[in-house]
Amino acid sequence: MTPSNNSSFQQASEATSFLKDCLPDPLKVPRVAIVCGSGLGGLASTIQDLPRVEFDYASIPYFPSLTVAGHAGKLVFGMLEGQVPVVLMVGRAHYYEGHSIDEVTFPIRVFKLLGIDTIILTNAAGGLNPEYMVGDIVLLNDHIFLAGLAGIHPLRGPNVEEFGLRFPPLSDAYDLELRRHTHEAWAKGVKTDRKLHEGIYAFVGGPSYETRAECRMLRQLGADLVGMSTVPEIVVARHCGIRVLALSLVTNKAVLSPIPRGDDQVLLGKDVGELEAILQEGKANHEEVLEAGRSAAIEMQVGPILDQSLRAHSDQI
Ligand code: HPA
Repeated sequence: MTPSNNSSFQQASEATSFLKDCLPDPLKVPRVAIVCGSGLGGLASTIQDLPRVEFDYASIPYFPSLTVAGHAGKLVFGMLEGQVPVVLMVGRAHYYEGHSIDEVTFPIRVFKLLGIDTIILTNAAGGLNPEYMVGDIVLLNDHIFLAGLAGIHPLRGPNVEEFGLRFPPLSDAYDLELRRHTHEAWAKGVKTDRKLHEGIYAFVGGPSYETRAECRMLRQLGADLVGMSTVPEIVVARHCGIRVLALSLVTNKAVLSPIPRGDDQVLLGKDVGELEAILQEGKANHEEVLEAGRSAAIEMQVGPILDQSLRAHSDQI
């Protein structure tokens, strides 16, 4: 069922009551939610010990169902390091699947009603910044939401006062304190060849990957990364006052060089195979995106960045 703006509070309340009724006491009020992006579902194995409770999205009232291979759909409740009650969202609904922007962001409002004060969102993204390498991690510090600017916006419609203000500011959407902690934790504790950057994420609707001209446009607008998720969730999280830490895994480098012209001198004498090789360079594909996600999740699941930044966070709460 589609959550409409004005009933979103009731629907989120219903989903929240359903979850709370099924959860044992220590897990009823999670403090932190972690959204695992494409291929990053392995992060759920961070939570092994009991109590641990899983819900398929299909079993939760009004939760969106997922249609994309490689994106499971479950909430995992557990204790991180036996201390911090957390909920992991393994797989997210995307706008390109045909869900409305309200459906995509519905789980965030359920998290708010569960009592979450901080959300950590992860995603797979294409690197527009030429310094980014596949496998690097980028802490988001801002975004460009072209669809939102044009009115495809999760807060469009009557404001749901129970959640927040009509005109929420987003100039400080990406929590500085949490970013500081993450840099510190990374410098201290993360043994990896991956680099940690900070950058700006541009949301696109997908599902096609961008053309070269679109990549150049987004780069010229100031974006360091491009991806098909996260930003609508962040807008809704900030509307209801949840602190946000967002991390992108660079799964591919966006192609910024113009497509060769048909009359380009360098193409003279090249056969079809050679032309094909030129065109293949940097071409994005979903399998490559999932594979980069899987290897990052394996390396990162037990501790390094999420664990460290959560531990830093649990010191504060
Ligand atoms: N573009 C959009 N979304 C993505 C990409 C990309 O290049 N890589 C992973 N998600």
